[in-house]
Amino acid sequence: MKALLINCSPVRTGATAEIISIINEEISGRYETKCICIDDYDFAYCKGCRSCHKTANCVIEDDIRKIMDEFDEADIIISVSPSYWADIPGQYKAFIDRCTPWCDTHEPHKSLKEGKKGYAVALRTGPGMHECERIIQSIEHFYGHLHIEKTGRLGLTSIEYKENVAPRKQEIIEFCRTI
Ligand SMILES: Cc1cc2nc3c(=O)[nH]c(=O)nc-3n(C[C@H](O)[C@H](O)[C@H](O)COP(=O)(O)O)c2cc1C
Repeated sequence: MKALLINCSPVRTGATAEIISIINEEISGRYETKCICIDDYDFAYCKGCRSCHKTANCVIEDDIRKIMDEFDEADIIISVSPSYWADIPGQYKAFIDRCTPWCDTHEPHKSLKEGKKGYAVALRTGPGMHECERIIQSIEHFYGHLHIEKTGRLGLTSIEYKENVAPRKQEIIEFCRTI
């Protein structure tokens, strides 16, 4: 079974990457894992032209296809996102917008292989869980329209830098036991 871990932050070596690294360490005995960062890819914003509603294809040719190939290869998808202004980072939102050719609200649309399970992890610096909930909901909304089953979630508050992740390792390990 293959697991795709996505760093939804543009920071390749920050707190989000640190959480990905712990999850990878915990599940790599059970899954063939691949870790990617949204910032590894070069892609444009959705133009909102809706051509894909009629054709299931995007008018723009760029790295979106490469990311979606990774999605299609995976049996489970784990998105780890920091809060940027109380929501997912713009880079990850821009990616989701470009997934409209795969969205099930219009016909025709492209489809990923069925049976995938999706996990959502949110982190933030502030103390309240409500913001993590919002981020998890954004990720799960995306999963829903791609028929990725919403399977597990974790919210981590009071994390700003990667140094703040180590004291939370046990929470992350407990979450990994559910994967
Ligand atoms: C542009 C920006 C906006 C942020 N907005 C929020 C916010 O609204 N609420 C919050 O709790 N933390 C916020 N943070 C803090 C991040 O969620 C936190 O530092 C996280 O650990 C960053 O992970 P990263 O370094 O992997 O991107 C923000 C950070 C940045 C850079």
